[in-house]
Amino acid sequence: MVKSDSMKKEVNKFIYFYRFLATANMFTRTRRLRNSKLLREIVRNVRLSIDELIYPIFVEEGENIREEISSMPGQFRFSLDRLAPELDELKSLGIKTLLVFGIPKHKDPIGSEAYNPNGIVQQAVRFIKKNYPNFLVITDVCMCEYTSHGHCGILEGCDVQNDSTIKYIAQIAVSHVEAGADIVAPSDMMDGRILAIREALDEKGFINTPIMAYSVKYASNYYGPFRDAADSAPSFGDRKTYQMDYRSSKEYYREVEADIEEGADFIMVKPALAYLDVIKAVENISLPLVAYNVSGEYSMVKAAALNGWINEQGIVMENMYALKRAGVELIITYHAKDIATWVKNGEVTL
Ligand code: PBG
Ligand code: ZN
Repeated sequence: MVKSDSMKKEVNKFIYFYRFLATANMFTRTRRLRNSKLLREIVRNVRLSIDELIYPIFVEEGENIREEISSMPGQFRFSLDRLAPELDELKSLGIKTLLVFGIPKHKDPIGSEAYNPNGIVQQAVRFIKKNYPNFLVITDVCMCEYTSHGHCGILEGCDVQNDSTIKYIAQIAVSHVEAGADIVAPSDMMDGRILAIREALDEKGFINTPIMAYSVKYASNYYGPFRDAADSAPSFGDRKTYQMDYRSSKEYYREVEADIEEGADFIMVKPALAYLDVIKAVENISLPLVAYNVSGEYSMVKAAALNGWINEQGIVMENMYALKRAGVELIITYHAKDIATWVKNGEVTL
């Protein structure tokens, strides 16, 4: 009894003191600017637009395929003959930019389907640009979906050979642009690939085709669901000799510097949410900054949402604004279609 009385007294003292400070205007009323919805709307300074979202799509060689990716609920692999309804829907939702991934039928040690002029990505790009010319089409340039061993380059023994790989990477990029790709996005993480691609594109006269460099790409566990989706898991070892070590907080400077010097037009950080510190650190570069909100980040949100454990719309929007707040201009995200749908239905305002 005695103890709680004395505690009450202490608390009262505290309250009186702060009331005094308040009337004397000696503390800051941060709540003042949050006091109404209208006020919050005009003082918030971070904005998001559907235009800033890039939607990844998976195109698979074959017929009559519309297969849900089991580890990525809501995402599908499409064969070209079933792609049109999906593109119609994306168009009606106001999605403007696509990132195209291909899943070939045939794989070999040198990933030759990746630069086949009639490969799955090249066909998909031609189809989209012919029938849906208003989409901006970005293609992922890599070898792991096309090599029998699942690595992002050419092997010598168990090593991924840098300098021979970048010749292939440049050839793949050229074949995508010849098919009509608006932007190429190399994700292989070989050294010198940006320069190799730039030279190869310029030589063919594609001086105005931008390169979106996966510059800061970590060897991440968050790519797990994607590797199911694209059937691109390495058959042995891991990607740690070419993708970055998340235990370093220095090497991203070198990657960004190198890519800018070699002629990149966009810089990407990947994954996104566990790397907000990296985004923040490079936010003032002179090129547009892109975050890739990757498959594992998507699947974790989806799994929790499907279990009823989280408010999906709330969490997704909070994640998107976190990326914008950290300083990116563009977000590649599997949530793009859902977000555009929610906005269209008036369930979410940006
Ligand atoms: C291909 C590539 C990957 C991703 C984009 N391009 C997989 C990888 O590097 O293993 C990951 C995308 C995602 O997880 O959503 N190199
Ligand atoms: Zn790869």
